[in-house]
Amino acid sequence: MAVSFKDLGLCNTRDMFAGAMAGKYAIPAYNFNNMEQLQAIISGCAQSRSPVILQVSKGARNYANGTLLRYMAMGAVELAHQTAPIPIALHLDHGDSFELCKDCVDSGFSSVMIDGSHLSFQENMALTKKVVEYAHQFDVSVEGELGVLAGIEDEVSSEVSHYTDPEEVEEFVRFTGVDSLAISIGTSHGAFKFAPGKPVPPLRFDILEEIERRLPGFPIVLHGASSVVPEYVDTINAYGGDIKGALGVPEEQLRRAASSAVCKINIDSDGRLAFTAAIRKALAENPAEFDPRKYLSPARDLLVELIKHKNREVLGSAERI
Ligand code: G3H
Ligand code: 13P
Ligand code: ZN
Repeated sequence: MAVSFKDLGLCNTRDMFAGAMAGKYAIPAYNFNNMEQLQAIISGCAQSRSPVILQVSKGARNYANGTLLRYMAMGAVELAHQTAPIPIALHLDHGDSFELCKDCVDSGFSSVMIDGSHLSFQENMALTKKVVEYAHQFDVSVEGELGVLAGIEDEVSSEVSHYTDPEEVEEFVRFTGVDSLAISIGTSHGAFKFAPGKPVPPLRFDILEEIERRLPGFPIVLHGASSVVPEYVDTINAYGGDIKGALGVPEEQLRRAASSAVCKINIDSDGRLAFTAAIRKALAENPAEFDPRKYLSPARDLLVELIKHKNREVLGSAERI
């Protein structure tokens, strides 16, 4: 039987994006795969009074189990609201088919992304419109994507990026009826976004500005927006890891994006790095430890700090509730 997100206490992204557009900030979309990551996201966002999008990829759904995730999201709402009445959305990240998006709509997601960015323009429009027509019957928001980000995601991968062509955005949004649009302006997925040892190329704000001019007031989404916090990279490398040369998007570029039409900023890699850094350190310093709570608690704590920092100092989403 189908489950409505409203019965789980979740919100779609419509009012969140309206607030972000008016207040010139961005809603954080944090990916999670397990209980500790979810606990950290909820604590960090409730403590900093920030709306939040809980983001689940196809891989995360397979890993954690769709049914369990639904109840985890429901529990997350109840837990968060013990601290602050923050709006919470449950969003499918990089949906790669109509069937997956439908399944998420039917099982309590309040928002879905259909990523047709690897398809032709016409095929992307047709698939996105089909998802919108289904999701909107249930008041579920839909994110589409134009332009290709480099990096590997579930089933949707590319070696190279192609910037979004601003000339395509009006037709795409009008034809499909999407609620938000992910664009490619120089970010990429994962922890190796730029060539090490060279200056980090700035994001293409000229493309973003042209898109804003063509779609006034329309919510834009930035994927691949982790900063790849150098402190975490150093900790991982110092405690037996090997991720040398990892580099991300500088915070000041994200601040600038958050104050524009970018209403949603996706962060996954930074959370993974924080978690891994804390676990590596805890295990290296306590080699006899084998109680998972002992090394997962510091990981969760570090993630809470990261999330509060992002909300307060980068996205500007803190203290909005
Ligand atoms: O953009 C993709 C997200 O970081 C999700 O990654 O497919 O490995 O869960 P994943
Ligand atoms: P990062 O890999 O930069 O965290 O990007 C995550 C993302 O875009 C999820 O959709
Ligand atoms: Zn992404």
